[in-house]
Amino acid sequence: MTKDFLCLSDWTLEDLEAIFALTEKLKKEQKDGTPHHLLEGQTLGMIFEKSSTRTRISFEVGMFQLGGHALFLHSGTTQMGRGEPIKDSARVMARYCDGIMIRTYSQAAVEEFAEQCYVPVINGLTDMYHPCQVMADLFTVIEHKQDYRNLKYCWIGDGNNMANSWINAAAIFGFELRVATPAGYEPNAEVIARAEKAGAKLLLTNDPKQAAAGTDVLNTDVWASMGQEEEQKAREAAFTGFQINADLVKLADPECVVMHCLPAHRDEEITDEVIEGPHSIIFDEAENRLHVQKAIMATLMAR
Ligand code: CP
Ligand code: NVA
Repeated sequence: MTKDFLCLSDWTLEDLEAIFALTEKLKKEQKDGTPHHLLEGQTLGMIFEKSSTRTRISFEVGMFQLGGHALFLHSGTTQMGRGEPIKDSARVMARYCDGIMIRTYSQAAVEEFAEQCYVPVINGLTDMYHPCQVMADLFTVIEHKQDYRNLKYCWIGDGNNMANSWINAAAIFGFELRVATPAGYEPNAEVIARAEKAGAKLLLTNDPKQAAAGTDVLNTDVWASMGQEEEQKAREAAFTGFQINADLVKLADPECVVMHCLPAHRDEEITDEVIEGPHSIIFDEAENRLHVQKAIMATLMAR
């Protein structure tokens, strides 16, 4: 097990499955009102260079429920935002905090921070990956489908940080993943190559119908991620036909589930009807950020 949670590929199947088992236990205890102060007296520093609702709240509430404390640090109001080197910031923060969660642009910056920081570092989203979200997604699939194995998954839309993390997950967990993106918006080529080398069952296509046909899990995300706002109009044109709507859902397995990490642009990448419809497990998915991240923090930080 590595010190940090930066990318799913750094972890083994066995260790990730142990996180699911701990998530199930912690979720049950939280619902029953059984305290589980596994991180009593510990502090998580949370550095945000991008906006957040779910990530910020779920980490902060999660630390409280684990008996610890979370510190919200908007990077623009720290000295990091004024150019203090990552290696200095990381070494200083490690002396105050027991763990750090970072949401920023560059995966390399998070890796550099983790290298310099002797306490665990958790990736709360970069342009490249969103590993905590995909763990929450898979835990939600397990809850609704009893297991994540023997299911067909599809990703419809942008080959972004979420798509990259799903490809990593396909390589580790061994399930079949079909990814449909418009030409020019494919997931990261190195991520694909590494996953294929590891034996991932991947189908990459520009046809959303091919990806959706008979699948058990339909998943999508916004067409323009944080930092790409000025591309919104061009992307709306490029992504026409890549919407999860009632017609696409009809092509999937009749018992399929529909996921979206949120925030969603309703009636853009997914219709309002599907978000509110019977296949949607989107709000359970959002809730599970809390439970999965508590398990990740406890795994990395408990003494
Ligand atoms: N899904 C997700 O990470 O949401 P936030 O951007 O609100 O944290
Ligand atoms: N791909 C989106 C995910 C938001 C949780 C983004 O990076 O903005």
